[in-house]
Amino acid sequence: MTRTVETTPYDDQKPGTSGLRKKVRVFEQPNYAENFVQAVFDAVDGKAGATLVIGGDGRYLNRSVIQRAIRMAAANGFGRVLVGQGGILSTPAASNLIRTRGAIGGLVLSASHNPGGPDEDFGIKYNIANGGPAPEKVTEAIHARTRTIDRYLTTDDADVDLDAVGETMVGGMPVEVVDPVAAYADLMERLFDFAAIRAAGLSIRFDAMSAVTGPYAREILVNRLGFAADSIMNGEPLEDFGGHHPDPNLVHARALYDAMMAPDAPDFGAASDGDGDRNLIIGRGRFVTPSDSLAMLAANAHLAPGYAAGLKGIARSMPTSAAADRVADALGIAAYETPTGWKFFGNLLDAGMATICGEESAGTGSDHVREKDGLWAVLLWLNILAATGKSVDAIARDHWARFGRNYYARHDYEGVAQEGADALVAGLRARLAQLPGTTVAGLTVETADDFAYHDPTDGSVSERQGIRILFAGGSRVVFRLSGTGTSGATLRVYLERYEPAGGDLDGDTTERLADIVAAAEELAGIRRHTGRDRPDVIT
Ligand code: G6P
Ligand code: ZN
Repeated sequence: MTRTVETTPYDDQKPGTSGLRKKVRVFEQPNYAENFVQAVFDAVDGKAGATLVIGGDGRYLNRSVIQRAIRMAAANGFGRVLVGQGGILSTPAASNLIRTRGAIGGLVLSASHNPGGPDEDFGIKYNIANGGPAPEKVTEAIHARTRTIDRYLTTDDADVDLDAVGETMVGGMPVEVVDPVAAYADLMERLFDFAAIRAAGLSIRFDAMSAVTGPYAREILVNRLGFAADSIMNGEPLEDFGGHHPDPNLVHARALYDAMMAPDAPDFGAASDGDGDRNLIIGRGRFVTPSDSLAMLAANAHLAPGYAAGLKGIARSMPTSAAADRVADALGIAAYETPTGWKFFGNLLDAGMATICGEESAGTGSDHVREKDGLWAVLLWLNILAATGKSVDAIARDHWARFGRNYYARHDYEGVAQEGADALVAGLRARLAQLPGTTVAGLTVETADDFAYHDPTDGSVSERQGIRILFAGGSRVVFRLSGTGTSGATLRVYLERYEPAGGDLDGDTTERLADIVAAAEELAGIRRHTGRDRPDVIT
């Protein structure tokens, strides 16, 4: 029986870069999750009889919100719900399931790389029928609905047994609990040469960070590719990720980094985040920045069966280094520069204009799904290592020798006061027009703007996507406020210096970026506005 429950709006349910992310305590307020899920359902046209995918990264609240969302889906007239066994679906696996099962969309329950547990973060993201994150016009409609919502629909059915694969009925609607790994693993096996990877005799270490990729890594890396079972660290998904921060960067995946810099390091190391869409790549003795990884994967992708026909185009987010653009140039294909957020790649992928996409925030992926995909990046790297017989370090050096090197770092100032962050950005904006031609910390400003994106597929415009200041010679600093934080503001400063082929390609990143760091401070007054004298995180 469908039941209508009266509710009142919350005024803080505006989705950010990647869905609604809040502290668990916020989500635990009466009807908080229900309001948002109902707002999503109210914004979805054509839901009657349609299939909906539901799954998450296994963090605290995952199972409880899934049970509530299933009852609400039944009451709202969906025709079928597919849910991952144990409530588990990595973000790329959810994207694949939406696409291959012809679903109208999916609820992905995750706060990505943010910590989990009763005092940490939770999130709800809605993906559309192409398998990708909802575009802005959909998230705006959802947000508008959260402001007026006065009821939600549910049923009185009991909880579904999420641990047993099979079908049950909820409010007259079939709910199918599916193996979260199998279809995704099959897709990977079609894209990559598993036999060649098996035959290459590589040693690896993969850190699943006690998050969603554990079961995926076990099936693909151990069962199908034959790597030793102890190649996987932290392979069991835990509700609190073992108290760790499941963010695969040099700070939170430090143990992996240290292991990969040791003399007895395996050939290849990698990690993925809470929901399995990010990746960190470290070869023996060689960390690869996400921007470089995108460029190197694009340059070598044709070595994998799924990309043997070549790439249609390469897309990167604006703060990502320009390394990938040089590859696109050499391949004679288009390079696209989009705002931060995977959702902006969706249209380019759907239109067949781009094949590979990537972001400095450790996301890489392709047109095989509509999300970034951590294990996909790992497997493409392994396929390239197997096909070339080279080490990660040799691939990187060869790449730089051919294309030049984009030294790159991101400085994050976390949890700063919103007013200070806003004042910093406003101060920069006000001066943009006067900057070209001036010299800052010895660097000449060539252009300065607030990035605006004109989507070539639908003509939509997204403004104020980050302030970029380009210096003579291809160096650059970008300032942007994070759209994914859950407390205060996070200032991101992206630093990049281009060194052409034949130049100093083996320098120290910190040294090579020192003058750009100085220019960033002089331009933006970071200390003055944030009260900080150094970043919290450098990646
Ligand atoms: C999420 C999105 C990414 C995006 C990142 C940026 O992970 O899926 O596409 O790059 O957020 O986060 P930020 O905190 O910089 O807004
Ligand atoms: Zn993620």
